[in-house]
Amino acid sequence: MKKILVATEKPFAPAAVAQIKEIVEAAGFSMSLLEKYSSPDELNAAVADANALIVRSDKVTADVVDAAKELQIVVRAGAGYDNLDLEACSAKNIVAMNTPGQNSNAVAELAFGMMVFQARNHFNGAAGTELRGKKIGIHAYGNVGIYVAKIAKGFGMDVYAFDPFVEDAKIKADGITPVSSVEELYSTCQYVSLHIPANDKTKKSINAELLNTMPEGAVLVNTARKEVIDEESVVALMEKRADFAYISDIAPDNKAVFEEKFPGRFFFTPKKMGAQTSEANINAGVAAANQIVKFLKDGDETFRVNK
Ligand code: 3PG
Repeated sequence: MKKILVATEKPFAPAAVAQIKEIVEAAGFSMSLLEKYSSPDELNAAVADANALIVRSDKVTADVVDAAKELQIVVRAGAGYDNLDLEACSAKNIVAMNTPGQNSNAVAELAFGMMVFQARNHFNGAAGTELRGKKIGIHAYGNVGIYVAKIAKGFGMDVYAFDPFVEDAKIKADGITPVSSVEELYSTCQYVSLHIPANDKTKKSINAELLNTMPEGAVLVNTARKEVIDEESVVALMEKRADFAYISDIAPDNKAVFEEKFPGRFFFTPKKMGAQTSEANINAGVAAANQIVKFLKDGDETFRVNK
């Protein structure tokens, strides 16, 4: 019997695990669960006899792939698959997939939770500001960016987007103003919400030079990846610009520096939690389970990312 391992250092909601189990067992497979593990060795041991693996941000390194003697498919239940060593997977003919769009609304809602918190001075009672009428730039108009744009319109914000991979006509059709460069997006918008993936092209691409062009009262919102930020230059910028705030679902490595130097001008969730809702866990977990069943039964490779 094929074995599907769900390995999540940050557990799914119990309802999501129950639904994954139901799908897997209805297909005639078995499911095992490894949650809140504290060392890669635990994952290596658990994956040894698994035919399929479901993970979240868990690192599927070359070591994990090496330990997984029977593995045919790994599905990242989520959007960003920068945690998967795709070369190692391909070298062993392991299919790697993600589940795009399944947790996007949860991430977008968190972006607004953080924006309101920042605009209202961390709820300290002092007069804050409103989002209505402010300009927001969506940096990458993908699944999350689209939800952020929709919610921003509900708040009465003036919404701009930059995405070289999306036709301007599509952005315009959604009632959003497309801009033609990253520079234009940042120099136009007081709020910028990041939705770019972390890859060789984007890592450290959000730097002081770009951010310094943002208007007075600038707020950078990061629900994407910390790797895309040039942290040192953001610190240098915030030292120069007392009006600049950085709010993120992924705490930077130099968090202590922010705590010491910029009280009230930053916010970092204690643990990445953009996709941490029951709905998002169920959507992404169920999609992952269904993709595995279709692959193991019919060889369906939709959503494969290591082509
Ligand atoms: C994603 O890429 O889907 C999000 O960053 C969610 O990550 P998580 O599953 O670790 O919460």
